[in-house]
Amino acid sequence: MIDIHCHILPNMDDGSDSLEESLNMIRVAQKNDTNVIIATPHFYKYDSIDEFVYERDEKALLLNNAAKELGYNVSVACGAEVFLDPRIFTADNLDELTLNGSKYLLCEFTLKPFENEKAVIYCEELVSRGYVPIIAHPERYINFLNDPTVVNDLWDMGCKFQVNASGLAGHGGERMQDFACELIKRGFCVAIGTDAHSSNLRNNRILDKTDEFPEEITKEDIEEQLNANPLRILKKEDLPEKEVEYF
Ligand SMILES: [Fe+2]
Repeated sequence: MIDIHCHILPNMDDGSDSLEESLNMIRVAQKNDTNVIIATPHFYKYDSIDEFVYERDEKALLLNNAAKELGYNVSVACGAEVFLDPRIFTADNLDELTLNGSKYLLCEFTLKPFENEKAVIYCEELVSRGYVPIIAHPERYINFLNDPTVVNDLWDMGCKFQVNASGLAGHGGERMQDFACELIKRGFCVAIGTDAHSSNLRNNRILDKTDEFPEEITKEDIEEQLNANPLRILKKEDLPEKEVEYF
């Protein structure tokens, strides 16, 4: 499996706080049939993209070398979880922030309630620059839950969606779980990510979570969301055209 959303790099954000902990997450990944992790540290300092990219790439190299030395069969690729706010309109080139150098940009919004229209205008800017925004954990935004038609608007402009395994497993409550499940069954979701921040609390033990997914989520869904589509993203390929069922 491939995890496209993980805060595994040491001391980069609120994720792993040491190389040792990052290696713990590598060990968990190996035990959980995960062979590639795209490191997606939070990105919000729009005035220092180059510094962010340099630090991220150095840390990924360090972690990959350490994992290889210890005999793990898990590799780390680079991306970012890009925080969208009005600075997006004047931001420099974001190519280095995409998932493994693809056109896919993993994006997040504030977790405080906001107007859905803002999500639409920020994403319009990204699409106009040639990126395909992948909206991280839409199930966590209360304003999306209250008016899910924003998902239709974002989809129509070319956005995709990634739900968190923990949300789909019900760890954020039933409402979040139901919405995550709907996003998959209606065809909007392209990948399930762990959004792991450590090896224990917000962890990447994906197999524990797939066991807790709602029963509507089939083995085929899991294969598509945790393997086939993430592999397409990693290989910089197009995702298959899909008919969605609008909200
Ligand atoms: Fe995240």
